[in-house]
Amino acid sequence: MKHPKTVMIGLGYIGLPTAAVMANNGINVIGVDVSEKVVKTINQGKIHIVEPSLDKLVNKVVQDGYLQATTKPVVADVYLIAVPTPFKGEYIPDLSYVESAIMSLTPFLAKGNLVIIESTSPVGTTKKMQQIINDNRPDLEGDFFMAYCPERVLPGNVIYELEHNDRAIGGVNEASTKKAQAFYGLFVKGELHATNAQTAEMTKLVENASRDVQIAFANELSMIADKADINVWELITLANKHPRVNILQPGTGVGGHCIAVDPWFIVNSFPEEARIIRSAREINNYKTEWVIEKIKNTAIKFEIESKKKPKIACMGLAFKPNIDDLRESPALYVTQSLILQGFDVFPVEPNIKEHEHIKIYTIDDAIEKADIIVYLVAHKEFINIEVNHKIVLAFIEKK
Ligand SMILES: NC(=O)c1ccc[n+]([C@@H]2O[C@H](COP(=O)([O-])OP(=O)(O)OC[C@H]3O[C@@H](n4cnc5c(N)ncnc54)[C@H](O)[C@@H]3O)[C@@H](O)[C@H]2O)c1
Repeated sequence: MKHPKTVMIGLGYIGLPTAAVMANNGINVIGVDVSEKVVKTINQGKIHIVEPSLDKLVNKVVQDGYLQATTKPVVADVYLIAVPTPFKGEYIPDLSYVESAIMSLTPFLAKGNLVIIESTSPVGTTKKMQQIINDNRPDLEGDFFMAYCPERVLPGNVIYELEHNDRAIGGVNEASTKKAQAFYGLFVKGELHATNAQTAEMTKLVENASRDVQIAFANELSMIADKADINVWELITLANKHPRVNILQPGTGVGGHCIAVDPWFIVNSFPEEARIIRSAREINNYKTEWVIEKIKNTAIKFEIESKKKPKIACMGLAFKPNIDDLRESPALYVTQSLILQGFDVFPVEPNIKEHEHIKIYTIDDAIEKADIIVYLVAHKEFINIEVNHKIVLAFIEKK
């Protein structure tokens, strides 16, 4: 395949690095985003998201003329879509962004073009979108290619993983799969695994549902162990001595924009069958409420015994250790709930300097002030903290 002119619709955490990597591999990329601010920033060779080395790469490809941004699609050979797929209502996938991206490119589509969806999507989305194009462009029916290819990059290492991770590529027919494989071959060094559209869609959802189920097992164990007066960390360490057992670590819950979200796409499509997947989501959400109850009960006991309101240090706000990402974070939720319920809270997050609504304290300051110290995230900065004569609640392993 010679380097095709490519439109990338949606220039966020996935779309922008992908556009930049494609452009750096000699593909002429037109990035499209509904946000004029995003378009303006990129055309200045700058970026609007946090991702190591992305600023330099975007600056280079914009300077070299391989990446330009605009608010509307243009005539091209390949169209990629990386727009958001959030929930609406009670965990129902909202496909309106993908639909609107499809509608925006449909007038420009020509015979032989390739359309690829990368947004995390419920099973059947690619075929549904193909139908929308067919309905609006009956002149093209059967004459364009369409595929789904999910993204599984790790924030913080996106540029490397975009080029080196394996990809699952599923077309609506074999010709589409082959065409999409050839396209990704222009900039991906990882293996390109051919499948059909529905399997590629489900692959992404299953990857995150699998993690969610495994974490739910650990979280459920932590609540059982607490009732049985068993140290859950010791329990898991001992059980993992079995050569074929590998239990994950429990925590405050599950956060982030993928594991806490994607399993619902399966539950919503397969409500009868997706029982363990639904339970896992419920258990992981419940674990966060359980943590709040534990802290509240400890605080009430302290107040009754010492006749003063306790000061509570909440150690960690991010959704996982050693990052600054607060999206869907259970630790942030716990901290905010305690604040809203009138507790005297001293939040600590070593990976961020300030927060719009929450005053952030240093580790030393919070520990010194607190009567109750609550470990919510296993940040490396917390490992060696030792305190005497204070109440400590650790919902992560405190080695
Ligand atoms: N962020 C990740 O780590 C990650 C990983 C794997 C998969 N995904 C999936 O990739 C998709 C995109 O996620 P993201 O994190 O990049 O989102 P994002 O919110 O960072 O970026 C999406 C961009 O799309 C733009 N947009 C929305 N509607 C548009 C439209 N109709 N036309 C043009 N632009 C439009 C928005 O302005 C925004 O800049 C989602 O489905 C997400 O679930 C994300």
